[in-house]
Amino acid sequence: MANQPVTTRIVLASRPVGKPVTANFRLERETLRDLDEGEVLLQILYLSLDPYMRGRMDDAKSYAAPVEIGGVMEGGTVARVAKSRNTAFTPGDIVLSHSGWQSHAISDGAGLRKLDPDAAPISTALGILGMPGFTAYAGLRNIARPKAGETLVVAAASGAVGSAVGQIGKIFGARVVGIAGGPDKCRYIHDELGFDAAIDHRADDFQTQLASACPNGIDIYFENVGGHVWSAVFPLLNDFARVPICGLIAHYNEDQSTSRRSDQLPAVMRAILRKSLTIRGFIQREFADQRPDFYREAGKWISEGRLRYKEDIVDGLENAPDAFLGLLEGQNFGKLIVRVAQS
Ligand SMILES: NC(=O)c1ccc[n+]([C@@H]2O[C@H](COP(=O)([O-])OP(=O)(O)OC[C@H]3O[C@@H](n4cnc5c(N)ncnc54)[C@H](OP(=O)(O)O)[C@@H]3O)[C@@H](O)[C@H]2O)c1
Repeated sequence: MANQPVTTRIVLASRPVGKPVTANFRLERETLRDLDEGEVLLQILYLSLDPYMRGRMDDAKSYAAPVEIGGVMEGGTVARVAKSRNTAFTPGDIVLSHSGWQSHAISDGAGLRKLDPDAAPISTALGILGMPGFTAYAGLRNIARPKAGETLVVAAASGAVGSAVGQIGKIFGARVVGIAGGPDKCRYIHDELGFDAAIDHRADDFQTQLASACPNGIDIYFENVGGHVWSAVFPLLNDFARVPICGLIAHYNEDQSTSRRSDQLPAVMRAILRKSLTIRGFIQREFADQRPDFYREAGKWISEGRLRYKEDIVDGLENAPDAFLGLLEGQNFGKLIVRVAQS
């Protein structure tokens, strides 16, 4: 067993009650077995940290199964093939995989997608050219359907999904107002990404600022957050507004069995009827058949400088739990990625 690789992994030690804490995670090491015919050994280079992982920590009914206690935390990864007994893969190949929070993994090759390191930096397969970028594209193309001159508002606007929503929304001809936490994030989306306006949701007069930035009301609200941001947006929605419900990060730490039913429900239902609103939840994989279109279009927009991105890279797998807890508090600035090993 002298040369057997040892994997370092982060498992779910306990289920959080409300806000997760570092004690909900545990770091473990395990010597991996030999490869069987058809298998590859992956060395993980990058791990994506995403808000959906909070849902996997709960044992609640959802669109995906929870991580078991003692199970490896789930997550998208970019990996190098270190050894191969699968004819489709050669050592050195770089692949997109879903190996979770660990340094090495054995795969039978199913679901691996080869990446071309010369086409784009490989970490982008977890962000702008990966699941978050595609989420923005799919929600806009299928649900929001912006028309030229319409006002599109997006929250968590400097993040992985929101930054792509705003920029692709501009490409589709909308006037884009981004909502973000703090002056640095607001400056970034306005000055560097070209959003038409940027509003800080932590400002005391947030609601007033949002109303002034949307003098013609809101035609599209791309919902990533919920909470006080939704409350500020809701009265500004125009007739026939479209609201793709992509995420509700402000609510992910709530206990669903005890959280208070919203008093807003009758008002929301009345507005849906009176204003002919379209409010539609979605999970990006519903639109998986559009991924080839996305890779083609997004690749072109990036090369033309019309779609920019920012990555927030944290070094070391052992730092993943703290980085993830920070994501739920808005401490990330850009797509949050852990560098597990040097590429
Ligand atoms: N439906 C799907 O298929 C799908 C796929 C991917 C992601 N999503 C959802 O899309 C949303 C954005 O995901 P992402 O990966 O792009 O994350 P992200 O924006 O890179 O990071 C999360 C951001 O959410 C904001 N935030 C956190 N807590 C908040 C609160 N209580 N109130 C207001 N803002 C808060 C923070 O930004 P500020 O500092 O700017 O507030 C934080 O930086 C999430 O809700 C996620 O679950 C859905």
